[in-house]
Amino acid sequence: MKRIKIKDLSFAYQAKNPIFTNITLELQFNEITFLKGENGSGKTTLCRILSGLEKNYSGSILLNDLDLKSVSFSERAKSIIYLKQEPLSNVVAATPDEDLILWQNGFNKEINESSPKLRKKVMKKLRINNLKDKPFWELSGGQIKRIGLAALLINYDKYWILDEPVSGLDNTITGIFIEMIEERKTLGKGCLIISHKEDYFSNLIDKSYIIDNKKIKKMFRGNFENI
Ligand SMILES: Nc1ncnc2c1ncn2[C@@H]1O[C@H](COP(=O)(O)OP(=O)(O)OP(=O)(O)O)[C@@H](O)[C@H]1O
Ligand SMILES: [Mg+2]
Repeated sequence: MKRIKIKDLSFAYQAKNPIFTNITLELQFNEITFLKGENGSGKTTLCRILSGLEKNYSGSILLNDLDLKSVSFSERAKSIIYLKQEPLSNVVAATPDEDLILWQNGFNKEINESSPKLRKKVMKKLRINNLKDKPFWELSGGQIKRIGLAALLINYDKYWILDEPVSGLDNTITGIFIEMIEERKTLGKGCLIISHKEDYFSNLIDKSYIIDNKKIKKMFRGNFENI
């Protein structure tokens, strides 16, 4: 099974202020891994490292036995999709439909695999079909967040890294999103969920971690323990 293996990872934006020191963690692509931690503890930073946006770390991160530092963005994007915490940072085009076309094409201008049927289906599921040609600047925060969830459905077979996926969503869409995760779990497709709302996912989580004081701890028999 595919996985990301993080070993002795240390990272600092500024040398004297490390965010992590020697953390070790394995993300199995067929499991639902949950990660929490206080504001500013480094959850988004970990996502940025995993998605290749921060490279200046020490330790090793292996993506299916390949050193992440040597894996190109396009290669990594074949296996992983990262949904950022801020909805607008996931937007790459002017309208939801154009955005999803880019996701369908893997951002490769030379390919044109866009299937309007698939886009219609995912937009319908997330109740955004009426917004498909609206410019993003006319959409609400929650509506933009839904487009990000639609991009996930277009990238269904990849490993999903989800930074606060339910923040700002209403109850209906939160329910639809949790069903999406449930359905994937039955198909053996996992994800990393970062959230302050652990209760929403408690029945789905395979492994649970917390970032605490620059270290990562694993939930074991109801307590978080150093790993
Ligand atoms: N580009 C940056 N340069 C310097 N420091 C940064 C940068 N981005 C984040 N930080 C700092 O790194 C720390 C971790 O931030 P991060 O965004 O990873 O936290 P988080 O756990 O995701 O928090 P939240 O729950 O608020 O989303 C914070 O102290 C933050 O101020
Ligand atoms: Mg964050």
